[in-house]
Amino acid sequence: MKKYAFLIFLLIIVFLLTGWIYSINAHKSQSEPVQQISTKWWGSAHADIAAEAFTHWNEDEPAEVPQYCAKCHSGQGFIDYLGQDGSEAFSVDEPAAIESVISCEVCHNEQAEQLSTVNYPSGASVALEPNDALCATCHSGLDAGTAVVDATLGFTDDEIIPDGSFITPHYAFASATWLGSEGNAGYEYTQKEYVGRFEHAVGVQTCTQCHDAHSLHINTTQEGADLCSTCHSNVTSYSDYRNITFSGIDYDNDGVVEGMYHEIEGVRSILYQAMQRYASEVLGESIGWLDQYPYLFKDSNSDGVISEEEAAFSNAYSSFSPRLMRTAFNFQFSLKDPAGYVHNGKYVLQLLFDSIEDLSDVVAVDCDLSLRP
Ligand code: HEC
Ligand code: HEC
Ligand code: HEC
Ligand code: HEC
Ligand code: HEC
Repeated sequence: MKKYAFLIFLLIIVFLLTGWIYSINAHKSQSEPVQQISTKWWGSAHADIAAEAFTHWNEDEPAEVPQYCAKCHSGQGFIDYLGQDGSEAFSVDEPAAIESVISCEVCHNEQAEQLSTVNYPSGASVALEPNDALCATCHSGLDAGTAVVDATLGFTDDEIIPDGSFITPHYAFASATWLGSEGNAGYEYTQKEYVGRFEHAVGVQTCTQCHDAHSLHINTTQEGADLCSTCHSNVTSYSDYRNITFSGIDYDNDGVVEGMYHEIEGVRSILYQAMQRYASEVLGESIGWLDQYPYLFKDSNSDGVISEEEAAFSNAYSSFSPRLMRTAFNFQFSLKDPAGYVHNGKYVLQLLFDSIEDLSDVVAVDCDLSLRP
């Protein structure tokens, strides 16, 4: 009996010891030297004091980031938003400093580390884990499809809205794409259903499981291999991401199964052609897109492309009907989270397909709508 008790005692000791060693090791591989973290951060977009995102208001009088923009474009503004400066939480109370980058204390403070709710422009309020909530608060977009609903209320589908202008979702709204219908960021058609959060797979389900919080680059595996290569066998490095397909569906129906990125591009170009046809045939004013604010211009000579002359702010497209406004919103939504294909490709595709279907009621389109995911 005594011998038995001793064996159990020994077993417990062995258990405790392995547990302890394991925990030390786990800690060792987790905690990075602060100096290394700082170096990574310095090289990141969040530290880029010369970026448009932090200098856009430098020539204004006074030179400050307006209240409405400060949450995301000024580290000081974000601290105000959190209420870490003693002000009310979840609101920016005053204009904030320009060239105020997203420095260590912007993310590492009491309020930031317990942030667990993110408010989206659609009005959706979503509970998230603190790390995700932090990233998502700024990467959430500025307008949602609901703004298009408001702007088009009371007009028939093809009626031109006086003083109508292009409503866009803004930039780098990764978390809104990721959440799909939970964030309700796209222009969602009432009679359609949309996918929710992209659950993806274990180990790649949160912002910081994929992105290093400091360099913002994609993490590697513990062995130093590309994070995605463990499951997507065609991947060895970043340059292969855009060729990842899982479903093996030829969404754009061009006869080749390509990576999700390219399938989205294909479907988007079908939508673009439909928008152009609709604008000239139904609205009587040709349209074109260029990657330059305000993005949609009058294609005055109707040659299908926006020339340097046509790309003037004064030549911004203005003949918006509700149908153009909502399809153009989804078109822009698919472009301005360039990583939409990773964050939630199916949501992006659903919005594109539904917009094409919308236009197909009035103009000819060449699209197999049954391929909608
Ligand atoms: C954009 C927000 C953000 C900024 C800016 C930021 N951090 Fe972090 N930091 C995080 C998040 C999120 C984590 C948790 C990462 C995780 O769990 O993968 C973290 C983790 C850490 C850790 C713990 C690391 C570990 O391995 O346990 C330290 C230390 C740290 N940050 C220091 C810094 C320093 C120093 C700076 C400035 C040079 C900085 N951070 C800037 C968001 C940020
Ligand atoms: C919810 C957060 C958020 C708010 C609020 C916000 N922005 Fe942004 N904005 C961003 C992010 C994130 C980017 C970064 C895009 C990039 O360069 O990767 C950005 C980029 C920009 C850019 C640079 C675009 C480019 O092509 O590089 C401009 C200009 C800009 N925003 C203007 C504004 C203005 C004006 C407001 C206020 C009316 C505003 N933003 C409010 C998140 C926001
Ligand atoms: C306070 C607002 C804010 C927070 C919080 C924030 N970001 Fe950003 N992020 C920005 C802005 C603004 C830019 C654009 C900066 C620029 O153009 O240099 C940006 C840029 C980026 C980029 C683009 C990098 C590139 O090279 O184009 C990535 C990726 C990114 N952020 C990921 C994250 C992640 C992950 C988190 C959470 C750990 C996070 N961000 C938290 C505002 C924020
Ligand atoms: C499955 C891994 C994964 C997850 C999860 C993920 N990202 Fe990304 N993200 C990527 C990859 C990969 C890219 C670059 C894709 C490319 O360049 O083709 C990217 C690009 C970005 C960019 C730059 C592109 C842009 O919009 O300007 C931002 C910002 C960003 N992610 C933020 C986030 C935020 C915030 C979250 C959490 C809500 C998140 N990401 C979740 C993998 C991920
Ligand atoms: C742990 C395994 C795993 C890892 C790691 C992983 N993925 Fe995935 N990925 C999957 C699975 C499973 C699916 C299918 C999910 C679904 O459709 O619900 C998928 C789907 C995708 C899709 C959509 C493809 C399609 O045809 O629908 C893209 C794009 C993608 N992953 C990119 C990435 C990128 C980029 C990374 C690295 C940052 C990554 N994945 C890491 C397992 C993984």
